[in-house]
Amino acid sequence: MGSLDTIAVLTSGGDAPGMNAAVWAVIKLAAARKIRVIGVERGYDGLIDGVFQDLTRDLADGSLAPEIGLDWLAGTGGTFLGSSRCIRFLDPAHRAGACATMHDAGIDALIVIGGNGSLTGAHHLASVCDVPVVGIPASIDNDIGGTTDAIGVDTALNTILEACDRLSDTARSHQRAFIVEVMGRRSGYLAMASAVAATADAVLLPERPRDETEILDELEGLLRHSFDGGRSKRRVLIIKAEGVPTPTLLLAERLQSRILDLEDVTIRPIVLGHLIRGGHPTFHDRMIAGRLALGAVNAIEHGTTDVMVGWQSTIGEPTSDPNVSVVALTDMLTETAALLDGTSEVTRMRLHLIQQVEGVLAL
Ligand code: F6P
Repeated sequence: MGSLDTIAVLTSGGDAPGMNAAVWAVIKLAAARKIRVIGVERGYDGLIDGVFQDLTRDLADGSLAPEIGLDWLAGTGGTFLGSSRCIRFLDPAHRAGACATMHDAGIDALIVIGGNGSLTGAHHLASVCDVPVVGIPASIDNDIGGTTDAIGVDTALNTILEACDRLSDTARSHQRAFIVEVMGRRSGYLAMASAVAATADAVLLPERPRDETEILDELEGLLRHSFDGGRSKRRVLIIKAEGVPTPTLLLAERLQSRILDLEDVTIRPIVLGHLIRGGHPTFHDRMIAGRLALGAVNAIEHGTTDVMVGWQSTIGEPTSDPNVSVVALTDMLTETAALLDGTSEVTRMRLHLIQQVEGVLAL
């Protein structure tokens, strides 16, 4: 690699709380090393079209500083650079165009902050472009191989917990069951992790595919067991991952029609949706954002490309931070596919853990 004067940074795919903290950390770390930082607006769309903004500025003494007015960034949700799900980037011609745009703008390296689709794009770009590309995993879904946590997951889990606590207050007041749908695309991680912490009574996961009748049988049994007879629970909380195909509203209707004999027991469905993607990042998300950013800037300085920095990864090369590894994007892609098709050891372990506590959840 030639001289390292300018790094570009972009955020792509679904925004995740902590993306801004990662960008802020990149700006400060790079500025301290006299490397300029350019922000790419709206993810790969901005990279193709060359829509950039300066994130560092030159000082009279020859040093660099973050652009004025960005110091509020680290504590905010969303992504101030903007994001997109860029269909054009699937086309090799547009990836070649993005590479040319980077050369024209004097960009010596690129940091991509995003989920598995965005990091797949980073891999394809790195394969055809001589500008080094390093990824930082950020997605509330936690479906990225080669990192135990992605930026945004902890904040999303805390938001789900708060929502479940609030719903439990009102559920207990009326002896109700709530079916709470949480995001996660094809991954049930958010549902699984929040179910235990929110003391849910049941959890529905895409990693354990069942037909609708099986699900209804289980939930009907749960409701009868919980509200009938001596147990007389006041609240039942069912967490459903969005990757489970039956729509949540339909599930609630069909379940209600099965328990008409349980007088006064009502079921309410709620889809938390994008609510869990916003909000101020937690300490954990800000902390991993900073440390992953450091790993990414170091990787770029070492001339590495086509890699991602992972948090507490079981694969990849160690770095000076014991929690941060450098993972080849090809290995990330292989592990991501295994996470989602259930063949990964990580998915097996997660399912094993939830199976162990499931009987306890329903008590
Ligand atoms: O990947 C993050 C995520 O929030 C998924 O959990 C969800 O399925 C999807 O994005 C929603 O995408 P959009 O914001 O484009 O509706």
